[in-house]
Amino acid sequence: MRLGVNIDHVATLRQARKTFEPSPLFAALIAQQAGAHQITLHLREDRRHIQEEDLELIKRAVHVPINLEMAPREDMKDIALRVKPNRVTLVPERREEVTTEGGLDVVELKEYLKEYLKGFGEAGIEVSLFIEADGSQVEASKEVGADAVELHTGAYANLFNAHLIEEAKKELLRLRQAGQRARSLGLRVYAGHGLTYKNTPMLVEALRDVVEELNVGHSIVSNALLWGMERAVEEFLNLLL
Ligand code: PXP
Repeated sequence: MRLGVNIDHVATLRQARKTFEPSPLFAALIAQQAGAHQITLHLREDRRHIQEEDLELIKRAVHVPINLEMAPREDMKDIALRVKPNRVTLVPERREEVTTEGGLDVVELKEYLKEYLKGFGEAGIEVSLFIEADGSQVEASKEVGADAVELHTGAYANLFNAHLIEEAKKELLRLRQAGQRARSLGLRVYAGHGLTYKNTPMLVEALRDVVEELNVGHSIVSNALLWGMERAVEEFLNLLL
């Protein structure tokens, strides 16, 4: 399986002070150096973390593919067609949410998305839809002309984190069935959301032959912060000698 590293929360920390550090661009370059197969970033309507400038700089400097998560809005389409990430992943977005809470309702938005998706292919941009593991959402994704789906793993992650392992296994089965359905329709299949160092091994074991790629953000950025804390303190203490 490939790994897309989502660097949004590096920008969250920077925006907490509206300063220049930590730099999402540096984070993307280090993730690339460490072997990440892709850099993923979400340009939200409220610009709470990633800014348009981050997207532009990262697109210019990074050579692994760039996956831009965005709401299916006209202004976002304009940005995507201008910056040309390798992929856009369309996600639902509500201003008040802390994170992307559910999948895109492709069934409900079918007619809108059919029109919206026009133009990405000609620009060389792959279109993936972030959806729940549900057969009707998968089929609608194919109908609207998507190239791929990303299956929302948040429900699985929550069940695993609550130690509800039997229920988590049922959710993996649902993810597997939706993934297989998508593949049978010729869609590429990715997955992500809420994955951690603890809950990922069981998911990989169950979905290895169905899912090509995982996108992981919060857990990687969290551990980057903690695993780097010791050195950061030592370096500062050196300044005080
Ligand atoms: N995939 C998609 C489509 C997302 O919206 C997000 C969150 O931005 C992720 C993956 C990564 O989720 P997490 O930060 O929980 O790893």
